[in-house]
Amino acid sequence: MTRPSDPSDPPPPVDVVVVGGINQDVFVHVDRRPGPGETVVGRGPRTGNGGKGANMAVAAARAGAATAMCGAVGDDGAGREQLTALTGAGVDVAHVVTRAGLGTGVALISITPDGENAIVVGPGANASLAHDDVVAASAGARVVLAQTEVGAEPVVWAAEAAAASGARLVLSTAPVVPLPAAVLEAADPLVVNASEAIEVLHGPGAAAEPGSAVPSAADLVRHTGARSVVVTLGGAGADVADRHGSTRVPAPEVQVVDTTGAGDVFAGALAARLAGPDSTLMGAAAAALAAASESVTRLGAR
Ligand SMILES: Nc1ncnc2c1ncn2[C@@H]1O[C@H](COP(=O)(O)OP(=O)(O)O)[C@@H](O)[C@H]1O
Ligand SMILES: [Mg+2]
Repeated sequence: MTRPSDPSDPPPPVDVVVVGGINQDVFVHVDRRPGPGETVVGRGPRTGNGGKGANMAVAAARAGAATAMCGAVGDDGAGREQLTALTGAGVDVAHVVTRAGLGTGVALISITPDGENAIVVGPGANASLAHDDVVAASAGARVVLAQTEVGAEPVVWAAEAAAASGARLVLSTAPVVPLPAAVLEAADPLVVNASEAIEVLHGPGAAAEPGSAVPSAADLVRHTGARSVVVTLGGAGADVADRHGSTRVPAPEVQVVDTTGAGDVFAGALAARLAGPDSTLMGAAAAALAAASESVTRLGAR
């Protein structure tokens, strides 16, 4: 990867391309969250490398897949730091574009003493991915993992590119945004956590309503027409369904330290496994579950 590439070289084979968000995380610990118009001085900041797409790419690389990231950062220190971190984790960043005049995406995270967090995201360069960026990055990949922090349009392009090249589309709707039916139908699988599962069924915002039950993966296969669906259920594991049937994969009992980014690890490890020779969804879900459950025993999203 550090060798200068000769234009006559064939492109290296890529197992997984992740089309998704890259952010700098900025953490501040506060005694309580500010109300409207108020300023609260806390402890920090501490910065970290984030963005769900980038976290997924790191997890896929860690799971042994040749992984490339497709995303966008600003022409700033935070962007260069994200590129360095991705490269250091073994992710190919040749298709991460650096946008002059835009900031690198940022997640402003306040954490209260009860461990609860509140997050504001400024997408910055993430929202600037263009059609040709996505098509060029997706060429030749076995699995295209599309994640909605870059907005709906790049996810649509990623799905089209995957269909054109015969790649498997793994779709993570985190956050849930309106997507064309054809994109959901092409997902194999659609990967959602419990609250996203509710929002896919009932629309954005529905997860906040009291008493909304988490739909099963089979419910979501029927509702969306997806080829397959995985609903991750935190410590309860994951529910997996395709058009033939469904199974529950339990999570191992672990000593939980920090569950931040567990879903990202799950999606990345799942995509990595699906790109390999044993590409059954059940086998991949079991491997992803093991990786995600191990990740919650350590601090941080990566
Ligand atoms: N408390 C936990 N114990 C064991 N595994 C966990 C726990 N929380 C999360 N995981 C693992 O991470 C995966 C994703 O977690 P989940 O909470 O469903 O998603 P998210 O990170 O989006 O909240 C789970 O399917 C499981 O494998
Ligand atoms: Mg969770």
